[in-house]
Formats: sequence, C-alpha cells, structure tokens
Amino acid sequence: MKEEEKNKMMIFTGSSVPGLGKKIADKLHLELGKVELTRFSDGEIYVRYLESIRGANVFLIQTCSHPVNYHIMETLIMVDALKRASAKNITAVIPYMGYSRQDRKTMGREPISAKLIADLLSVAGIDRMMTMDLHAGQIQGFFNVPVDHLTAVPKIIDYINSKNIENLVIVSPDAGRVGVARKVANKCHAELAILYKRRPKPNVSETINIVGDVGNKNVFMIDDLIDTGGTVCESAEFMKKLGANKIYAACTHPVFSKPVYKRLKESSIIEVVVTDTIPIKKELLKDKLVILSVVDSLSQAIKNVFYNKSVSEIFEGRM
Ligand code: R5P
Repeated sequence: MKEEEKNKMMIFTGSSVPGLGKKIADKLHLELGKVELTRFSDGEIYVRYLESIRGANVFLIQTCSHPVNYHIMETLIMVDALKRASAKNITAVIPYMGYSRQDRKTMGREPISAKLIADLLSVAGIDRMMTMDLHAGQIQGFFNVPVDHLTAVPKIIDYINSKNIENLVIVSPDAGRVGVARKVANKCHAELAILYKRRPKPNVSETINIVGDVGNKNVFMIDDLIDTGGTVCESAEFMKKLGANKIYAACTHPVFSKPVYKRLKESSIIEVVVTDTIPIKKELLKDKLVILSVVDSLSQAIKNVFYNKSVSEIFEGRM
C-alpha cells in the first residue's frame, strides 16, 4: 500500500477481539489505531480515540463474544465517537453478529432482535457492515447500508479435503444449514445427510430424524455456530446409534457458552473445527479442537473495499 493511502485507512479494534484486530492490521502493514476504552464506576463505557480520525476510512473490528451486550454497546459508542471525530466513512467489521438467531418471530409477542441490532448500528453511524456466515443470509436486508457477507466455509472445505476421509457424509444438523452442507458435500465429493431437529425451548435441542444414511460412514457436521454444544452433541449421539463411525463437527463461530466444553469433551465427536471469529479458551478442549483463521479473508476483503474492488471475487469458485 502506498504511503499516502496508508494514511487514509485506519484500523481500530474493540475489546472483544484485540488479537484478531492486531493480526488484520499486521497483514495490511498498518499500525492498529490507538483508542482508550474504559468504564465508569457505574459500568458505563468511555471511549476516546487517541489520534486524529478526520477524513479517514475507518475499519472497526469487533465481534459479539461474551459478554455480548457489553460488546454491542461498546461498538455503538465507538462508532458514535468515530462519526463525531469526522471519519470519512466507517465500516463495522463484525465477523460474528450477535442476536442473528433472532431473525424472525416464531411466536407472537417476540422481538426481531437481529433487525434491532442492524438499526442500532445504522443509527450509531456505520456506512458499511462486513460480517461472516450470518445465521440467515437475508439478515443482510435488515441493514440500510451495504453489507459484505463473507464466508469461512471454503476454509472448512479445504480442511476437510486435506484429511482425505473415506466414506464421508456431510451432515446438516438442521434445515437451516442444508444449502451450505450441500455445497460442502459437492466440493468434498461426499454424500449428504440432513437431520431434523426440534427446539422445545431456547438452548435445548432434540434431534428426531434423518434424511440420508450415516451407517458405517464417517461424518462431518457443518453448522454456522456452536453455542452450548447441544445441537452437535445431541446429533452425534443420534448418528452413533445409527452406526456412524468417526464423527467430526465444524462451524464458523465458536460462541461456546456453558456447558459447551464439558459436552464436547464427553461427546463422541472426535474433532471440533472452528474459526477465530470469536476468541475461545483453546486449552479447555485442546485435544479435540482445530482453529482455522479467517484473518486472510477479512484482510483481503478490507483491502478490496478500500480499493473499490469486488469482494465476492475472493470466494469465487471456492464454494
Ligand atoms: C441453530 O439454528 C444454529 O444454527 C445452531 O445449530 C445452534 O444455535 C447451536 O446452538 P447450541 O450449540 O446451543 O445447540
């Protein structure tokens, strides 16, 4: 990047992903922007940028990791401060968008929280949203600003192919992932199976049926996220009873809330493949865990946005 252009691009990171932000800045040969992030004694968030933002194309890296509400509020306040400091434009780079599972009303008198988050970001002042593997692609339409919807699935495909697993079946743990699982199965020359899951209440998952055959086969489940681990562990036990051999699970976002580590450790899943869209405690699952990095994809996408180049071409032909 030329010296005068470097001055026009600034990368800042919130407190949810300092490591990812630093890696992205390094990849782009930029210094991470300096910002003070503290709290008042009552818990309110204080933000102050420690260098001039005026006229800059700012990319703010943040994710919706635990504590999710705190990180969302911090993002909004950081965006507000950027806007008031005269940034030329602000791109929120939020690889995991929290509340994305609440993307529709499933019962009367429920909110559509994903839409609310999109509105909050817009009101705060973002000009563009960059995110990864949304729970549902149509969430892009909740934003009134352009959305770059990236995907970590090609990374997962490359990883699966590198393992040369015989008799492989790619499994969608629920109806929502069928499209992605089918693409992965095609790229991995594997069969496809689809599980039918019910959710009697939030965070409780019950697998009750399967379309396809996993008997004597090796299985790779693909999901957008693993939260409490209920879905993948329950699905694994269901498929074990149907005679599945080795069972693997992969997802883009390791949301990982309790009791996920215990569940995954005790389950018959032999390997859990995730990405670094959310920082996790690797040591709690080290024997089973593989972490793929999305730094390259995010850095390339940021670069392409900055240079007004196509973002979708980064993933062309890879899925
Ligand atoms: C649901 O539709 C999602 O794709 C995930 O399967 C689910 O949210 C994972 O949650 P948990 O790990 O708590 O079952």
